[in-house]
Parts: sequence; C-alpha cells; structure tokens
Amino acid sequence: MSTQQLAATTVVEADRAALARVSALPLDGFRDEHLATQLRRALASEGVADAGALARRLAADPTALRRFRRSIAVSVTGPFRDPHQFDLLERELLPPLLARPGRLRVWSAGCSDGSELISAGRVLSRLGGLERAQLLGSDLLEENVERARAGTAELPEAELRLRLRWERRDLLAGAAPGGSWQLILCRNVAIYFTAAARERLDALLAAALAPGGVLLLGRAERLRDAAALGLVPAGPHAYRRPA
Ligand SMILES: C[S@@+](CC[C@H](N)C(=O)[O-])C[C@H]1O[C@@H](n2cnc3c(N)ncnc32)[C@H](O)[C@@H]1O
Repeated sequence: MSTQQLAATTVVEADRAALARVSALPLDGFRDEHLATQLRRALASEGVADAGALARRLAADPTALRRFRRSIAVSVTGPFRDPHQFDLLERELLPPLLARPGRLRVWSAGCSDGSELISAGRVLSRLGGLERAQLLGSDLLEENVERARAGTAELPEAELRLRLRWERRDLLAGAAPGGSWQLILCRNVAIYFTAAARERLDALLAAALAPGGVLLLGRAERLRDAAALGLVPAGPHAYRRPA
C-alpha cells in the first residue's frame, strides 16, 4: 500500500495480515480507520514508502516494532480516569457487592499501566472491602503489564500491593481468566475494535461475570445487546448479571 492509498480509510487485507504477523497483534479486530491512521503515521515516522517496507522495518528494528505496537494498542490511562465512574463504583456498584459474603474478584480487562485497577483498589480500601478482594489486571502489551508490576512494587499501601496480580492477555483471543468475577472493568479498550470484535468481547466479558456481578464499560461505551447476554442495566455504562 502506498502513502497515497493510505489516505483512504481502509487497509488492504494482505498488508493487514503482514503487519499482524510481524507485530503479533490481533489486527483483524481493529477498525480500518484506526489502522489506516496509525499506518499512515508509521510510514511517515519510520520513513518508509509502503506497508511491505514497514513490515520489514518492524521485523528488523525492535524499537520501531515497539512504537508500532503502542500506536495500535493505544494505552492512555490515569488514576481515577473519568472520576464520576469511580464515584458510581463507590456509591452504587460496590456496596451491594460488598454486602454479600465471600471473595470479591475484580478484573481490569485492558489495564494499561494498572492505574484503573489501583484506583478501584483504593475505592475498595475506603469501603473496607480490600481484605477480601482479589485484583487482576490484564493487558495485550507485555510492556504495560511490566509497568503495572513495577508500579505495584512502589505502592505505599502494603495491603493493596499484596492483592494485585497482572498478566498478559489478548481479549480478542477468546478466553477470560479463570473463574467468575464480581466486578469487571473494561473501559476504553473496545473503542478501536471492529463491530464483530466488540461483539465477541461483550460475550466474553458477560460470560466471565459471576451472578450479581457488575461490568463497567467506558463513558462512551455500551453493550450492543445486554439482554441477549443475560445482563441488566446497573447505571450509566454499567451492567449486572442478575443473582
Ligand atoms: C486506552 S487504554 C485504557 C486503559 C484503562 N482501561 C483506562 O480506561 O484507563 C486501552 C488498553 O487496552 C489494551 N488493549 C487493546 N487491545 C487489547 C486486546 N485485544 N486485549 C487486551 N488488551 C487490549 C491496550 O494495550 C491498552 O492498554
């Protein structure tokens, strides 16, 4: 694909496949417009003429490869991002979960550097629920998982540090972490996914929810068909599996 062709918002299938192979990213799950934009930028920043040359550059240059992978898997995050969602968690979503006995398993799916899960852990701590919580963050990029691990080691709160686990996981590969989850956060992850990939992800998240469990999506996201997945609305961008 030439730079000129890339002005279009679609990506030639063979280019997508070549870049997926070399980057080890699930590019078939990402929207054409996102891919075309990031390709255009990569061609310019790497100084190569077409997707074939870019694939060869990525295969030969780990730094370029890392740049490309980061550009596709946009990792913007931060502590208490979209604070009203953490207010919702603290005031409405977590208290009913904490009113029930037993472990509280929380999964941040697409956790980036871990800020989201650590923020949720701090809310749980304020609510007195941290001691029985198990907190897992997963992300597509190993480097994000490593950042989350390194950040955890620096946390001042020993109780929170103890409860956090991180793992690499591709949400488009079709498997959730084992067991069922009382709270799943999957915010701002599916923004760049195709409709088909979002549908697969919705089903995967819904199936991983425990009875009574809550799924919180990003502030611009919603499930395509909550009822078909057996979920009911629990608040803005939040869904519950009836107990
Ligand atoms: C914009 S960040 C959102 C981080 C956090 N959830 C938040 O809202 O602050 C999107 C994250 O999703 C991850 N991601 C993208 N595609 C993924 C996939 N197929 N499987 C797992 N994580 C993915 C990216 O690596 C990135 O860390």
